[in-house]
Amino acid sequence: MTTLFAPTCRQTGSKNNAKERAMTTINRQWRLKTRPVGAPSTETWDYTETEIPTITDGQLLIKIDYISIDPAMRGWLNDAKSYIKPVQIGEVMRAGTVGEVIESKHEKFAVGDYVAGHDGVQSYAVSDGTGLHKVDPNLAPLPYYLGVLGMPGMTGYFGLLKTGQPKAGETVVVSGAAGAVGSLVGQIAKIKGCRVVGIAGGSEKCKFLVDELGFDATIDYKNENVKKALKQTCPNGVDVYFDNVGGDILNDVLTQINLHARIVICGAISQYNNTEAVKGPSNYLSLPGQPRPYGRHCGV
Ligand SMILES: NC(=O)c1ccc[n+]([C@@H]2O[C@H](COP(=O)([O-])OP(=O)(O)OC[C@H]3O[C@@H](n4cnc5c(N)ncnc54)[C@H](OP(=O)(O)O)[C@@H]3O)[C@@H](O)[C@H]2O)c1
Repeated sequence: MTTLFAPTCRQTGSKNNAKERAMTTINRQWRLKTRPVGAPSTETWDYTETEIPTITDGQLLIKIDYISIDPAMRGWLNDAKSYIKPVQIGEVMRAGTVGEVIESKHEKFAVGDYVAGHDGVQSYAVSDGTGLHKVDPNLAPLPYYLGVLGMPGMTGYFGLLKTGQPKAGETVVVSGAAGAVGSLVGQIAKIKGCRVVGIAGGSEKCKFLVDELGFDATIDYKNENVKKALKQTCPNGVDVYFDNVGGDILNDVLTQINLHARIVICGAISQYNNTEAVKGPSNYLSLPGQPRPYGRHCGV
């Protein structure tokens, strides 16, 4: 059996049990104060303390144990049309969460159940069950439901296998390779018998990808010329490019793309804090013949 390294989620929160509920009435919350221009800062947020709400019929109260801080959250701060509505000024910041049900007047959820959902950057959440699913701490540690068994895991798995369609012997390049999605993409590609090259920032991350996760080669985009390093690490060109970062790195990989290659446009983290227009690829004219053009891959 192959064991995948499971990236831990970016979580906060205490691991006290439901008894904590009796010891506090305070809900600690982070709310959106202003829409950031460029990178968010402390000015973006308001910290508030409110009373833990009382539930009514059809509702449940969740004590949030783990919060996932994801790149997509940056997009939710913009007042722009997207796949999901923006977080409104004054609202608790949306975030993926895992927590324990500590009160319930909902027929499908009982006290003691653990649930994953998008219940925000706060210590307690009232829910009517929408978007929640139960998770089992006996099957996997709770943080895994925000990582390898959650949205990043599903994104990497389906993005690579369904959209990227890697075949044994092919060369797969993944950017953001040491991140939650990229680290799984590389490991799945290895399981499928591919040669895997990861692009990441810094020697420590690159060493981890090769030594711990079994990548064949890496490119340290912060200290190497990516275009030159791609020629060296991918002598037979690139068959699948799983793009998490966009911008200049996407542009450089396009120069090494093979005929019939697949490009998975998963994300473009290098562009999310842009204050100017998003950089599109300018090297597309160097693409050979007919690489399969794919739309944006969306995780589940
Ligand atoms: N389409 C979907 O459904 C879906 C779902 C989940 C995630 N995504 C996207 O997938 C990407 C990765 O998500 P994740 O959860 O794996 O994020 P993550 O764990 O936070 O990792 C992101 C990594 O990106 C790298 N990075 C940041 N700025 C960069 C830049 N300017 N240039 C190059 N690399 C940069 C950083 O690593 P280094 O230290 O190596 O720079 C960072 O650790 C994001 O673009 C996200 O929006 C899409």
